[in-house]
Amino acid sequence: MTTVVRECVPISEARSQSAATTISSHPSRHSSIRAAIATAHANIALIKYWGKKDTLLRLPFTPSISMTVDQLYTTTRFEILPSADHNFFVLGGEEQSGAAAQRAFDYVRLLQQRFGVSGHFRIETVNHVPMSAGLASSSSAFAALAGAFAGAYGLHVSRAELSRMARLGSGSACRSIYGGLSEWLPGTDDHSSYAIALNEHPDIDLNLIAVQVDVSPKPISSTQGMARVVATSPYFPVWVQQTRKACAQMREAIQRKDFSAIGQIAQQNALDMHALNLTARPGFTYFQPDTIRAMRVVDDLRASGVECYYTMDAGSNLKVLVQSGNVSAVTHRLSHDLPHAMLTRAGFGPGISVSRLGEKE
Ligand code: DP6
Repeated sequence: MTTVVRECVPISEARSQSAATTISSHPSRHSSIRAAIATAHANIALIKYWGKKDTLLRLPFTPSISMTVDQLYTTTRFEILPSADHNFFVLGGEEQSGAAAQRAFDYVRLLQQRFGVSGHFRIETVNHVPMSAGLASSSSAFAALAGAFAGAYGLHVSRAELSRMARLGSGSACRSIYGGLSEWLPGTDDHSSYAIALNEHPDIDLNLIAVQVDVSPKPISSTQGMARVVATSPYFPVWVQQTRKACAQMREAIQRKDFSAIGQIAQQNALDMHALNLTARPGFTYFQPDTIRAMRVVDDLRASGVECYYTMDAGSNLKVLVQSGNVSAVTHRLSHDLPHAMLTRAGFGPGISVSRLGEKE
């Protein structure tokens, strides 16, 4: 067993020390360990997952590639409560009872069925996101919950299995098991759909500046947005074809450590995704006026010789890809042209870490 076993600690003290996700086989009959803490970092897709062919299993139409980031992460503690009569979900110190709690409870029940385990439980989770909601990601949330669940039950899981488990909570979460750069292999069934590490410690000069231009709630969730394009856009097959091609090109660009190609391919794939949304019936967009302003700033900077590119997810915020030498020029110009935008610089982040808690055997 390679995870850290120690006395229970409050979640605020619980940055995990161990990067291990392979832990003892099966729930131990003799163990009194009943809780675990996991920390998972969010990932930003360079090639997007946008469309499921199986909504229950969250099987995507295409592969996708992402960068795990150091500045945005979630820490989750999962405790099995043998004598409780209901479940608890505490988010940022406040007990939740609405849709977010229900999604987490349903997800844990699914995992319990999968592994033949049971019991009431308490989930305590903290999103470490240096900005308000706009960039909080379900990718780190469900990866951390999957890891903490596995740790608390003492399950022996490989990283591929942990990735499958995370995928069932939110598709993009399957990539947050790994640090650096990872790829989600779409597969054809539950077993074959999971992420792999492309390069956990990339020697590539690639920084991401998150530009939060708007904090209003998004008009349509990613789950709903992608379902609508799959069901109604006549251009969806073209998106699938282009994204598969873009993935192959991105893999090669990563191997060559070619920042320019990585940026160009990522920006075009994001534009393709957002163009697709306009072609749904009814069409929709995540862009706000400042999203377009920020896109223009990036395009202008590049035209003037400061190389940078953007990508956007299911929201109005931009993520700018830039090499270290240009971070301050890009930050300066963004702050000047978008004075209300909040900027956060991030680099490559680590993979998931899981610590089991409790009394030693
Ligand atoms: C635009 O993983 O949030 O960020 O599986 O329905 O929970 P569900 O979707 P989610 O979608 C992420 C979409 C994206 C692109 C990406 O991360 O690949």
